[in-house]
Amino acid sequence: MEQVTVFIPASIANMGCGFDIMGMAVESAGDILSMEMSEGDGIEIINRTDYDIPSTVEDNVMTPSIRAMLEAAGVRKHIKITLMCKIMPGSGIGSSAASAAGAVVALNHLLGNRFSEKEMVEFAMEGEALSSGGAKHADNVAPAILGGIVLICSYHPFEYIRIPFPETFCAAIAHPRITVKTSESRAVLPKDIPLHDAILQWANVGGLVAGFMNKDMGLVGRSMRDVIVEPHRKRFIPGFDDLRSKLAAAGATAFNISGSGPSVFALCDDEDKAKELCKIMSDHFESLGIEADSLVAHGDNRGARVIF
Ligand code: HSE
Repeated sequence: MEQVTVFIPASIANMGCGFDIMGMAVESAGDILSMEMSEGDGIEIINRTDYDIPSTVEDNVMTPSIRAMLEAAGVRKHIKITLMCKIMPGSGIGSSAASAAGAVVALNHLLGNRFSEKEMVEFAMEGEALSSGGAKHADNVAPAILGGIVLICSYHPFEYIRIPFPETFCAAIAHPRITVKTSESRAVLPKDIPLHDAILQWANVGGLVAGFMNKDMGLVGRSMRDVIVEPHRKRFIPGFDDLRSKLAAAGATAFNISGSGPSVFALCDDEDKAKELCKIMSDHFESLGIEADSLVAHGDNRGARVIF
């Protein structure tokens, strides 16, 4: 029997305008799981975390990812996973992605690192599809595996570039304790987009990428605006516009929904400012009778890693 334990960081998908094509890994939160590989067949999942996970192996996002990798490797093995630390499921900071990413990183290690980073991301996308109603997107799993910011340049063929998250930038993340299912928040999105919105959005994605590459927080702030998805999703976040105004008045550079929500995040370039923004977000939700957790996070530029 061989064993490995991995850490996988949380992630913020979309980053405003980059729906399904951009995401960043964040420090301060993540999953820890260990995997044992032995002779035999089948997948076993033990949950030692404080949270519920899908009750059957078939419903767990790790299962399709593990099966896809084993099949590609052409081997039969018994895989036992013990989840030891979990990002809160449904929080919107890449909980399902961390599980899928962790499963492929751990299995690849046990198989002698025979798959590339890109292949690992593709296997992890198989798991993500299970939690998002069939959509295979990489904007959480890619940064969770690779670290930093990942821009998906193409899904067919699959291609991405990785951009380091500037060390001086800081995120304030708040998780209101409400339920927003990814599949439901995808179902409200329009199928057609007016040309003027598309023009604004692709200008913003370009500006956002240039802003991160040039470590230009002002440009990041001006570009991290989503005119296509956010107008349809903000209804899921109580007092969204009001919260944005409060954060802007306090000096936040940008504010958006993290992935499909319900977590939201603000960016700034000062850790004390980020703490202040966290308090504003928590107070906002609590004033509406919604319990909320918040955290200050720098980018995680290392990505998923073997810890022992
Ligand atoms: N890009 C995905 C979405 C991320 O916004 O639906 C889901 O976490």
